[in-house]
Amino acid sequence: MSVTLGIDVGTSGTKTLAIDETGAVLASSSSEYPCSHPRPGWSEQDPELWWQATRSTIQAVLASGRVRAGDVKGIGLSGQMHGSVFLDQAGGVIRPALLWNDQRTGAECAWIEDRAGGREALVRMVANPALTGFTAPKLVWLRNHEPRNWDRVRQVLLPKDYVRYRLTGTYATEVSDASGTLMLDVANRRWSRELLGKLEIDPELLPDCFESPEVSATLSAIGERETGLLAGTPVVGGGGDQPAGAVGNGIVRQGVVSATMGTSGVVFAHADELGFDPLGRLQRGCHAVPGAWHVMGVVLAAGGSFQWFRNALGQAEVDHARAAGGDPYESLTALAATAPAGSEGLFFLPYLTGERTPHFDPEAKGGWIGLTVRHSRSHLIRAVLEGATYAMRDSLELIREMGVAVDEVRVSGGGARSAFWRQLQADIYGASAHTLNSTEGPAFGVALLALVGTGAFQSVPEACDATIRRVDSTPVNPTASARYDRAYCVFRRLYPDLRDAFHAMSSLVDGA
Ligand code: XUL
Repeated sequence: MSVTLGIDVGTSGTKTLAIDETGAVLASSSSEYPCSHPRPGWSEQDPELWWQATRSTIQAVLASGRVRAGDVKGIGLSGQMHGSVFLDQAGGVIRPALLWNDQRTGAECAWIEDRAGGREALVRMVANPALTGFTAPKLVWLRNHEPRNWDRVRQVLLPKDYVRYRLTGTYATEVSDASGTLMLDVANRRWSRELLGKLEIDPELLPDCFESPEVSATLSAIGERETGLLAGTPVVGGGGDQPAGAVGNGIVRQGVVSATMGTSGVVFAHADELGFDPLGRLQRGCHAVPGAWHVMGVVLAAGGSFQWFRNALGQAEVDHARAAGGDPYESLTALAATAPAGSEGLFFLPYLTGERTPHFDPEAKGGWIGLTVRHSRSHLIRAVLEGATYAMRDSLELIREMGVAVDEVRVSGGGARSAFWRQLQADIYGASAHTLNSTEGPAFGVALLALVGTGAFQSVPEACDATIRRVDSTPVNPTASARYDRAYCVFRRLYPDLRDAFHAMSSLVDGA
């Protein structure tokens, strides 16, 4: 029996699971840790937390009695993308890692775009515009603001690749996560010497870059002592959490797209060709499938908008759920379902933490637009769900505009758990919404990559076909969908019309 481990080094915790070649999950363990925000807009984590959580979850999986160290044929690593771990000559961590949701690098992004010769030139080199969360701006920030630390840096790693270093003693990454650094020549799947030269970043600071299912290193004697796994166990490249999660959802052929509605929402498509958008409105990168690419859009507060409503205005449902043992989200959704599709002309903009796709605007704001005395609480809630879903459709439309077909949408995350929100997604996307047998996300995806890399399957699509099945399908309701098409045209006008006002509002906030 081939057993592989998938390890996902997330922002709120690390999850390790073991699967066999049928895709059955044999054991799983998670461990949480905090994130620190030393200043507004900053977001950091001590890489030691990831390593301790990795050790303890591997040990828990082995202690379950369902997997023996000798059964483990390979390990796959996944994790939060874009973060930067700065290491010194001895491999020691110089300072806490800057994370994907850290916003401190606005000035560095502008400088990078300028050095590259403008946004279009930058997008031609590395397939993406400079986003504050990406890795290259973090390197430039350290050089500008902490020169003494910068002088000590000898290696820069992404979060999951730091865990690889602790497991194997090897500095390595793979193309899907490296795509989110803004330093990879995504078209040619290697570091962009051209951009690194313009930014005066030494390529020696970056690790070797593998394809995602390729074996990158093997477990060291230290790794064995720390985890209980066996030295020599192969560790494959793995993937950034989004490409890895996409493998776990079977998004490995053109035409199949995923819509994952967690706190943030991600629309992810497999692409046979890299394509080009001079404005770089979607994130583009190498897929964890060798020879393929991905395009993705990120809505920062998708499920997060609904969560905000529950916390700020859903006290009655929270109290009722606490007393009766139910789920406040279910009560809120049931109330939303009593309002008609389109919420009688009421809209909600979900930009509660600014927005990435398609506006790239940290100062975008949320809010209801179109309130009249007809509207009740049910309309307010329905508009929140609809607004988050329209924002996801923005990404789908961009994917379609880039010539990538959208034949099937696979939905997952909190937004896929309720039948009501699944229907709403099908109707707003204009495509059936499918759910899958596997809901394990990125850890499952990289465990599949490890099965491929260690020979249980010939290719990533073959591994997905053998293990992932559709279990439910929600077809489009044509009447509701036609109504949403008209409403979506109005939704698209709201942000451009309000943009200047949003920016003016920022200057009214104390301390701004
Ligand atoms: C992807 C992204 C997030 C992080 C954290 O671009 O920023 O998905 O990887 O999960």
